[in-house]
Amino acid sequence: MSEWPGADRRETPASSPTYAVRAPLAVWLREEAARAGRGYRVLDVGCGVKPYYPFFEPFASQYVGVDVVENPAADLRGPVEALPVGDAGFDVVLCNQVLEHCADPAQAVRELRRVVSPGGRVLASTHGVQVYHPSPDDLWRWTHAGLERLFTANGDWASVTVTPSSGTAACLAMLLGTYLELAARRARLAPAARVLVSGLNRGAAAVDARAPVLREPRPGTLFANYHVVAVAPA
Ligand SMILES: C[S@@+](CC[C@H](N)C(=O)[O-])C[C@H]1O[C@@H](n2cnc3c(N)ncnc32)[C@H](O)[C@@H]1O
Repeated sequence: MSEWPGADRRETPASSPTYAVRAPLAVWLREEAARAGRGYRVLDVGCGVKPYYPFFEPFASQYVGVDVVENPAADLRGPVEALPVGDAGFDVVLCNQVLEHCADPAQAVRELRRVVSPGGRVLASTHGVQVYHPSPDDLWRWTHAGLERLFTANGDWASVTVTPSSGTAACLAMLLGTYLELAARRARLAPAARVLVSGLNRGAAAVDARAPVLREPRPGTLFANYHVVAVAPA
């Protein structure tokens, strides 16, 4: 599995500033891949290097990647707002770390709903808080309530569940770690930064684990990323 591209995303070390985003995302997708049964069809929208393909490969009968940019890993080219596939053809539709980059998130959600099969699941993730990171654009950030509104207003769903992927301390550690790593690289002290970032991320995870008020969406909290499960009516 480690030979497939994107191992850093499937096994993100605590020394990475994006640990609060990528580590929970990998855990979630690995679980979702196993719970979806067998022989299902996956569409990976904004697939990048298809980092999560190895999680789905043992269970899925088909795995199609689509990306808006020229991408050798993608099977199809097109934007999430106008997917180059037919209606209701995929049982699991992934859209991970893409919505913040697309021009029209409402139209994107309508397309995700169009292509998912009856009873199928859209598994989307996107940022609450993150530094500017164009790919090729970077346009949006959400709250849990805004993401839920985005999905419910743009499709008939049996259910929509939005969950913060990590806690408030983890989000603060991510921001601090990002700039620590940047400063350390400029000072040619990258190994020291890895130790510091690792300590920050582990400390933050311990704080979040002890304090439910930092993990649940309520006034005053801050989240790096959200996971969305939107289930199409059967
Ligand atoms: C941050 S990367 C995420 C890649 C992958 N899904 C992952 O989780 O590692 C964002 C991806 O979305 C693609 N993308 C950006 N805007 C898009 C759009 N409007 N439609 C489809 N893909 C888009 C980018 O080309 C890139 O591959």
